[in-house]
Amino acid sequence: MKSLTEINFQNIKSVGIRVDFNVPIDENFVITDTTRLLRAAETIKFIKEKKCKILLISHFGRPKDNFENQYSFQNLIEQFSKTLNEKINLITFDDFSKKSLSHFKQSEENIFLLDNIRFFKGEKTNDMNFSQSITDQLDLYINEAFSASHRSHASVNQMAKNILSLPGFNFKKEIIAINEIKNSSKKKLAIIGGSKVSTKINTLLSLTQSCSNIFIGGAMANNFLKFKGIPVGDSLLEADSDKMIEEIYNNAKKSGCEIHLPLDVVTDKVETFSIDKLSSNSNFKILDLSDSSIYLLDNLISKSEIVLWNGPMGMIENENFSRGSSKLASLLSHSSSQVVIGGGDTLLAINIAGINFDQFYFVSTAGGAFLEALEDKVLPGVEALNLG
Ligand code: 3PG
Ligand code: MG
Repeated sequence: MKSLTEINFQNIKSVGIRVDFNVPIDENFVITDTTRLLRAAETIKFIKEKKCKILLISHFGRPKDNFENQYSFQNLIEQFSKTLNEKINLITFDDFSKKSLSHFKQSEENIFLLDNIRFFKGEKTNDMNFSQSITDQLDLYINEAFSASHRSHASVNQMAKNILSLPGFNFKKEIIAINEIKNSSKKKLAIIGGSKVSTKINTLLSLTQSCSNIFIGGAMANNFLKFKGIPVGDSLLEADSDKMIEEIYNNAKKSGCEIHLPLDVVTDKVETFSIDKLSSNSNFKILDLSDSSIYLLDNLISKSEIVLWNGPMGMIENENFSRGSSKLASLLSHSSSQVVIGGGDTLLAINIAGINFDQFYFVSTAGGAFLEALEDKVLPGVEALNLG
């Protein structure tokens, strides 16, 4: 894979870096998790040391294609500068609309951030003219926004096709970690939680091809338990999931992948039941898994060389039901296998458990992009970089 360290920077003076500064904030616009900012720091620092002018580009939220104050980087730019310890100068929506990037190159300043790229018509339509209005001012384009790479948008796709383009350092790590799950011949386990089978069906179908074992947890497991004839009371269920589950089992059988479900659960009354003791006559909601399930997970993890975890095992927002996910996070942090973790809620589960991300082989900051990359398709952001 091409690398930034192999490039000759002699004729490269201005560099665009697509970052994912779509950070979580509270009601006062205070950033509540800076992971995504810090993941871009290595690439920004590297380019700065090459004495290039830097134009950072990112989306934030999902505005319609026009300025909306609540989605403007005006509210966050000072926090970005502070977190990254760099003076970052905002190119406002008005500035760009009137003057495009004409004053970017002449300015005394070095690092700029264009206001939310989704304010501009042409971003979401992957428009060629719009993309050129930016890349015409640049000598190199870097994608450091793996978590946005499933979007066929101009700053993710077309801009990288217009000029010399490369993945950022973190982007490369994301690709390497995901490729290992997909292609390595090592023995693999996928632990998949979360609530909906439908949002993960394609990922699951793909994982049956590459993994020896898949453990299904979270609310998603309710559908699988019900499919197996186990009473799940009033637990959260997704309508019409049986067909999808049948397809997953059929695929798994064909490729010799074993699917595992929780052996015991914690209900809304904070009681633990073995799944063969769940009664069809009582009202209960399954909200977490318990010790026998954790024991099974421990066994599966110790038999695997690579472990992928996506999606919480229970309702982690409530401390009565976050224990299963915390125990799992702890098991994985002590495991000698290569552990790859992805998805926003999964990262929250690790934070709740108080475990540092550096305890794992790789923690992806991507949600949808992480799942889509595990499917058998090439993401628009990856395709544009022509990584070979
Ligand atoms: C994310 O937060 O998952 C990425 O930033 C992508 O955002 P989007 O789902 O609005 O495209
Ligand atoms: Mg998303």
